[in-house]
Amino acid sequence: MNAPLQPPAAAPVPPPEAWKQDEAALLTMLEEIERKHGYIPHQIGDEISRLLEVKLERLKRIQGKLEGGVRRDVQAHVARWRGEEGNLIMILHAIQNQYGYVPRDVAMELSRELGVRLARIYEVITFYHYFKLQPPGKHNITVCNGTACYLKGAAGLLNELRSQLGVGEGQTTPDREFHVEVVRCIGCCGMSPAVVCDGKTHGRVKPISIAGLIAGVRAVAAAKEAKP
Ligand code: FES
Repeated sequence: MNAPLQPPAAAPVPPPEAWKQDEAALLTMLEEIERKHGYIPHQIGDEISRLLEVKLERLKRIQGKLEGGVRRDVQAHVARWRGEEGNLIMILHAIQNQYGYVPRDVAMELSRELGVRLARIYEVITFYHYFKLQPPGKHNITVCNGTACYLKGAAGLLNELRSQLGVGEGQTTPDREFHVEVVRCIGCCGMSPAVVCDGKTHGRVKPISIAGLIAGVRAVAAAKEAKP
């Protein structure tokens, strides 16, 4: 289990006070312009209206999307587990099974549907290693960092993966080809350090072997695609 009980730092939702600050900053700016010119020039007024319209349009599109798909899905999951003890975790499992991870807009809709703070939902998601916040990669590379593998150099394997793929624990390459995961003991301590590539376990892996493992995954994928 992961220790931190914090919502993720990425893409935080600004608190209502921040929106009010934005609004106040805009009003202050307009007042300053008015003081300087004695009026608000048309170009500035028009530009602000245009920006607000764009934002409103975007908001409507997001809401429309939620109504169309995400809201229906979330309502179905909530209805299935409503009233059951520990239902938040069960619903998050159902969401992850459906999407492969817990998308932010789905978490937000779940927060509204259950009446649970979004921060609380992220506390649960980040507490359990199982839940993912990013879409899964096409290929999964899992590095064991249980005691035996840790002692035999799992950290070196992770470093090598980072230099080969540019991503570390819990991250997916920008092209979504590879996802790197770290787990605690996969039950093959006799062949530590162990790495699992797309379900295939490799034992006594050395940093120097990592490039070959990645190439192997790519080769298998290419061969599958080439099959008629
Ligand atoms: S600690 Fe890695 S397989 Fe057990």
